[in-house]
Amino acid sequence: MTDLSQAMTAKYRQDYRAPFYWCDSIDLDFQLQEPLTRVTAISRLRRNGAHNEPLVLDGEGLDLVSISLDGVPFSQYEQGEGSLTLFNLPAECVLTIVTDINPAANTALEGLYKSGEAYCTQCEAEGFRRITYYMDRPDILARYSTRISADKTRYPYLLSNGNKVASGDLDGGRHFVQWQDPFPKPSYLFALVAGDFDVERNHFVTKSGRQVALEIFVDKGNLDRAGFAMESLINSMRWDEQRFGLEYDLDIYMIVAVDFFNMGAMENKGLNIFNSKFVLANPATATDGDYHGIERVIGHEYFHNWTGNRVTCRDWFQLSLKEGLTVFRDQEFSSDLGSRGVNRINNVRTVRGPQFAEDAGPMAHPIRPDVVIEMNNFYTLTVYEKGSEVIRMMHTLLGEDAFQAGMRLYFERHDGSAATCDDFVQAMEDASGVDLGRFRRWYSQSGTPELTVTDEYDADSGVYRLHVRQHTPPTQDQPQKLPLHIPLDIELYDEQGAVIALQYEGEAIGNVLDVLEAQQTFEFDQVPVKPVPSLLRDFSAPVKLHFDYSDEALAFLMRHARNEFARWDAAQMLINKAVIDGVARVQQGQEVALSRTLLAAFEDILADGALDPALKAEILALPGEATLAELFDVADIDAIHRVRGEIQRALAEGFGAALLTCYESLRLPAYRVVHEDMAKRALKGVVLGYLAALDPVQADALVREQYSSADNMTDTLAALQVANGHLLACRAELLADFEGKWAHDGLVLDNWLRLVGSKPAADVLGEVKQAMAHPTFSIRNPNRLRALVGSFAMSNQVQFHAVDGSGYRFLTDLLIELNEVNPQVASRLITPLIQFKRLDEGRKALVRAELTRLANLDGLARDLFEKVSKALAQ
Ligand code: TRP
Ligand code: ZN
Repeated sequence: MTDLSQAMTAKYRQDYRAPFYWCDSIDLDFQLQEPLTRVTAISRLRRNGAHNEPLVLDGEGLDLVSISLDGVPFSQYEQGEGSLTLFNLPAECVLTIVTDINPAANTALEGLYKSGEAYCTQCEAEGFRRITYYMDRPDILARYSTRISADKTRYPYLLSNGNKVASGDLDGGRHFVQWQDPFPKPSYLFALVAGDFDVERNHFVTKSGRQVALEIFVDKGNLDRAGFAMESLINSMRWDEQRFGLEYDLDIYMIVAVDFFNMGAMENKGLNIFNSKFVLANPATATDGDYHGIERVIGHEYFHNWTGNRVTCRDWFQLSLKEGLTVFRDQEFSSDLGSRGVNRINNVRTVRGPQFAEDAGPMAHPIRPDVVIEMNNFYTLTVYEKGSEVIRMMHTLLGEDAFQAGMRLYFERHDGSAATCDDFVQAMEDASGVDLGRFRRWYSQSGTPELTVTDEYDADSGVYRLHVRQHTPPTQDQPQKLPLHIPLDIELYDEQGAVIALQYEGEAIGNVLDVLEAQQTFEFDQVPVKPVPSLLRDFSAPVKLHFDYSDEALAFLMRHARNEFARWDAAQMLINKAVIDGVARVQQGQEVALSRTLLAAFEDILADGALDPALKAEILALPGEATLAELFDVADIDAIHRVRGEIQRALAEGFGAALLTCYESLRLPAYRVVHEDMAKRALKGVVLGYLAALDPVQADALVREQYSSADNMTDTLAALQVANGHLLACRAELLADFEGKWAHDGLVLDNWLRLVGSKPAADVLGEVKQAMAHPTFSIRNPNRLRALVGSFAMSNQVQFHAVDGSGYRFLTDLLIELNEVNPQVASRLITPLIQFKRLDEGRKALVRAELTRLANLDGLARDLFEKVSKALAQ
């Protein structure tokens, strides 16, 4: 391993310099043929200011054929590792570069590659340099025209960004199409697709009356799975007009679904490319969760057209400018269309679980990172999900109207250009008059702040005080931390659950307290009784809250908090307390014991006829083992597993006969994808799990019955998950039946792979290896890999962390293979190996040994190098 040279490729945010040249337009010509594709790029270049600097172009894995300048062959260049440097260029010139590439050999799925029979591209973040030599950085905005030629029978559809301006037949059974994108864009938004598809068509009339053609391209035979994606696209376009006043700007919007894709989807201008997982759905193949995922991702990519494409990022350190903001927008979209409470709960689960774990691990970074080795490693939960929380805090501080005024000012100032996170905050500040000075630290400081709150009540004066202390523990990247501006949303209740108005000396106080200092006290008067405080309502900041709640106070909040989220959150805190207590007991050889208060509170939830079944399902679904591990400095994986199981069993016993009554009451007539029914199915699945915890024999019959009578994938999978999770007698039979039915449908089979990977039994690794030999499994397909290996490594805590090290060894062997095939996917799968901080010493040593094996690998990709070296530096 060449530590030094690789480490030296790190880039720093502080080093940003404006480019030495601009590129105003680029004409691309693609001759798609086997095995090599010839790419001709004609760029109009313009020197930026007066200087004699050479022009340095990025390029990787390219076969250079020729270079000419203003039509004359050019020789004053030098080819380097990943670059092409041109000397003595005039102030303005036209540069023509011809290169050959081999898409069929591209398994990294970055640049131009083949997904099955189709050609497609993925250019974010730095994939365009695998297509041609170019200034592959987001602050170079150029007008693109793209001519594609290919065999007409194999590739009847030739697509790129913008509008189709010409097409025609060529000799030898070939044809061509020419595209022109009127909007200047950075290279990462370039896209090309060539193939044969079925097309779902529709249109949308914008608020100013323009008609936009909508086209969704899917593999032949999949047209019956494209309807929901189209509906979601139309809903997205309408919602962005209504909530943000933003209208679509081209005459056509295309989405292509491909099976081989490293991430969820990509917002290329006018031509989104999607992982087929986020497009294809019908009742027979998709779960309710899949439908939600499609709506969210279709929305996300559509919303990027303004937040990302019209205003893009100056450099990749600013990634959260577009991603945090666009996640915030897609979360609001899902919440406006569906249940706000349930959406908030699920977003918070992601932040408190995997994002907090990222903060606590070797990859900790601020939402605007300062140093990057491989940019692909920074498409993180921190940049995306915490980034969205930071936008949400501004929304909380400003309110909807001022926030929208800030958005308008942001577009007024930056439309058509490449901006920074600071530009965004400045627009919010200028439009609202709210001081965001200290708030800006959220962009530069990494780690999870901890808020410790204590309270004090003086019955004589009726004064109630909240003492708030904030502290951010050091992270691997940043030892020193400063106080942040933390919006703390609170409410106070009296014994009956009535709200006590917040006031002091005759002045009303809003629900959102501004925590600015390391220590601060908030005072309220006219408080008639000692209140129960509801703190950090709606998770008003991405922090860990410490408040010494009694079980009684939490049970009270589960019943009385006015806000759905707060009721769920109180239940989480109650369970967390029970897990911490249970693990301590188990470690001392005692039994797990739950308080009567806890049991009664959960029984009331199950019995509450007024509660939305979706929320009920969220409250009753226990936190996962990985999330619970975050509660401990050293996580006793086996004890956590055992305690969680015993809590489930104790709750089930407490529920008793009410469980079966509830289960029976949730039977539905015909399948519909509507919130009301989705809510009932979610609750039914959770209740079935409790029934299995209570009586595995009775549950076996219920699960078989649900599996065989289900008319939709949600109920089918809920039955399989319970069979698998509780190792019911029917497990093997039902899983085999499912595999037999869906053996040829990769997306559906992913559910089976996930079940195999999460089997809670010691022989799981043998079954995982067997599944890897399944004809539909391929190490080249990221969806298959993530389903099988991701579920084993991320959600099968006990087995992955087996004390013999077999789980770690298996994953490392696979990563060594993947390092060659697809480093980006390898780098995502390595997460559970680098987050070993909370493991005991024995397991830590085993993990370190495997990471060292990786570190010593010849040709370790930058993606893995960055993570492995940081992990070993812990
Ligand atoms: N910009 C994409 C999004 O919507 C992220 C993305 C898609 C991506 N494909 C990628 C990032 C490949 C890196 C590499 O969030
Ligand atoms: Zn995005």
